[in-house]
Amino acid sequence: MFSNDKMAKIFIGVAWPYANGIIHLGHMAGSLLPPDIFNRYNRMKGNEVLMVSGSDQHGTPITRSADKEGTTPEAIADRYHRINKKAIEDMRIEFSLFTKTHTDNHKETVQDVFRTLLGKNLLYVKETMQYYCEKCSRFLPDRYVEGTCPKCGAANTRSDQCDSCGTTFETGDLKDAVCVHCGSPPDIRGTEHYFLRLSAFRDDLLEYLKDKTYWRPNVETFTTNWLKDGLKDRPITRDMEWGIPVPADGWDSKVIYVWFEAVIGYLSASKEFSKITGDEDLWKKFWCDESVKHYYFLGKDNIPFHSIIWPSILMGYGSLNLPYDIPANEYLTFKGEKLSKSRGGSIDMPSVLEKYDADVIRYYLSVTMPDTHDTEFSWEDLQVKVNNELVSALGNYYHRCLSFTKKNYGVIPDKRKGEELSAVTEEIEKARSEYDAYMEKCDLKKALKAVMDLSRYGNRYFDSKKPWALVKEDKEKCGEVLNASLQIVKALAIMAWPFMPSSSEKIWKFLGLGGTPLDSGLASCTSPLPEGAELPEPVPVYTKVELPKEEEKGKDEKGKESKAKKEQDAPKKELPEAFNDMKRLDIRVAEIIEAEDHPDAEKLFRLKVNVGEERQIVAGLRAFYKKEELIGRKVLMVFNLKPAKLRGLMSQGMLLAADDEELGGSTVALLTPSKNVNNGMRFTCGLDINGNEIEYKDFQKAVIKVISTDGGSFGGNTGNEKVPPMVAAVIDGSECILLSDGNGCFAVTDREIKDGANVR
Ligand code: MF3
Ligand code: ZN
Repeated sequence: MFSNDKMAKIFIGVAWPYANGIIHLGHMAGSLLPPDIFNRYNRMKGNEVLMVSGSDQHGTPITRSADKEGTTPEAIADRYHRINKKAIEDMRIEFSLFTKTHTDNHKETVQDVFRTLLGKNLLYVKETMQYYCEKCSRFLPDRYVEGTCPKCGAANTRSDQCDSCGTTFETGDLKDAVCVHCGSPPDIRGTEHYFLRLSAFRDDLLEYLKDKTYWRPNVETFTTNWLKDGLKDRPITRDMEWGIPVPADGWDSKVIYVWFEAVIGYLSASKEFSKITGDEDLWKKFWCDESVKHYYFLGKDNIPFHSIIWPSILMGYGSLNLPYDIPANEYLTFKGEKLSKSRGGSIDMPSVLEKYDADVIRYYLSVTMPDTHDTEFSWEDLQVKVNNELVSALGNYYHRCLSFTKKNYGVIPDKRKGEELSAVTEEIEKARSEYDAYMEKCDLKKALKAVMDLSRYGNRYFDSKKPWALVKEDKEKCGEVLNASLQIVKALAIMAWPFMPSSSEKIWKFLGLGGTPLDSGLASCTSPLPEGAELPEPVPVYTKVELPKEEEKGKDEKGKESKAKKEQDAPKKELPEAFNDMKRLDIRVAEIIEAEDHPDAEKLFRLKVNVGEERQIVAGLRAFYKKEELIGRKVLMVFNLKPAKLRGLMSQGMLLAADDEELGGSTVALLTPSKNVNNGMRFTCGLDINGNEIEYKDFQKAVIKVISTDGGSFGGNTGNEKVPPMVAAVIDGSECILLSDGNGCFAVTDREIKDGANVR
């Protein structure tokens, strides 16, 4: 696979998404889709590409989520790694390897870099002043302190960097700083850290940046602003437990700073990929051969880490390739603000993929890609662009050519002397050279425009030749026109493939061609079609889209309601294999009999429950409930969860609670039985539960949500009772069963929460 010397090799690094939430349209448009397009284009040209990324699993974003949910950082990091990896695959983003940072391979690579830099005197220990919260009695890492940016005045800015203006801060720079745990203003105290001697790289960095005149203006601006502020040495360790251990004696309470180690992920993932392929030295062909260009795709908030810090680490380590280009994107915005999981409704990728085909999303994101400035996203705009451009230009052209030819000829007609074909070929070549020029510059939006323009040319050509009339007058001449028209179809399927792979592959099949556009390669855009080859029956690959339902009518979960209803009507129905993850959960009714604050954790309670027997549970509910509210309450718990220590206290199970954060809400609501049933009552939905002990990650595999029902009645031995209007249900693909004791007692929430809230 990596052997032909005539091909160029390129390396593509993609910013590692934090594993503390589900990736959304902003990640897709900003950093994930562009490299996939560029990668596919290069492979199509015959280049060898190594493209890596993974989940960024360390750092405070993850520990903060874990605190919030009362679980471990590892559970959070692995949960989102799994969800995000799947969403990436469903979008057909193809990495050589999409790994994660919490691996031995990464740890070894990072510690090797650390030791090497230390050996070259590029790291040193110094006491620093650090935020320290008296009330929480702990040092506070960057994201545990928030305040106002002293430069641009942005509020709720974290203490290391301002997302609005890109300024990075020292301890104490931030105005009106508060501890995010308890809201009190932190002290500043001394603590020792390793520093990267960034100042030593000044001359080499300037030299490196000298010929980067082709970088995008935003990348240049962020980088030069950084340099203007002076190259200060930076601490690269942090006072926390979760992360890559510092490979030095006596540093057990500190870890390597997430940014310092995450960028090293590009190297460690390349090594991991090499091990997987069985060619341990493969990575060297990409990292040690100076002719290999390295591209990094990311959002603008990541720029200085890739244009200054990472090149410095690489220069310090020695003899590895530096970034060649960093085509960073601006933000996708929604109602004027940066898209984030807490804004803009169901913009997370699994939800969007439920509504639209991957290629439709890929098309829309490609035409709205925020490459030079922030770009506003809206569902209406998606509908307009897809229906008026993708469907009516490209989709229409594909289908009219294929179906007309199929109907009248059944095979690829003769090009005869090739008069029609040569005119058309010239046009294809023009489009190709434009397309290539843009692709080479990573100007992907314009490259796609060249494709769409070619489809518009195709439509004009087809119209001007009037094949519907010509076929009656001169069938052979008409065949010649169609042969030329199909040549455009072929060129389009090839050129569109990097943007919309699945639909392009379908068109390829409709042309009766074997393999895929990738196998055939870019050079084959103008190579003639096999005359006389049989054409399969085509179907349109793009169809008009509608707005997502909730956009039309506020909120609407009709689909789920009727599914839920169906299940009630037929509770004994054979359940698909897929509910297997649910079958492992032994969920039981418990009564809370004691509640106390956890002595060492702001967010946690220590609870005692009666679930037929007494159990101690540590739960992250303190931000949402008062102790008095909880005592005496009946709740639902996972009974067979492996006991785990949470901040030093043993937790023997977990309470089920719904959380609508991913839907833009801020409510957490406990699940509670809809009727007064006995402690210990099992909620198994009538499934055969085996009750074996499970790990937290096994629990995470089952998808449970709070959904609205139509309040319909169900049979059962209690007569004609009503289903509560909002209940928890287990969802698997398109199937759904209500969580219940199998006898008319359902799982409801003890306070109002958004429809669709996740239970965990
Ligand atoms: N996790 C970071 C973010 O989402 C990006 C890390 S990129 C890497 O902003 F280079 F450090 F890997
Ligand atoms: Zn505090």
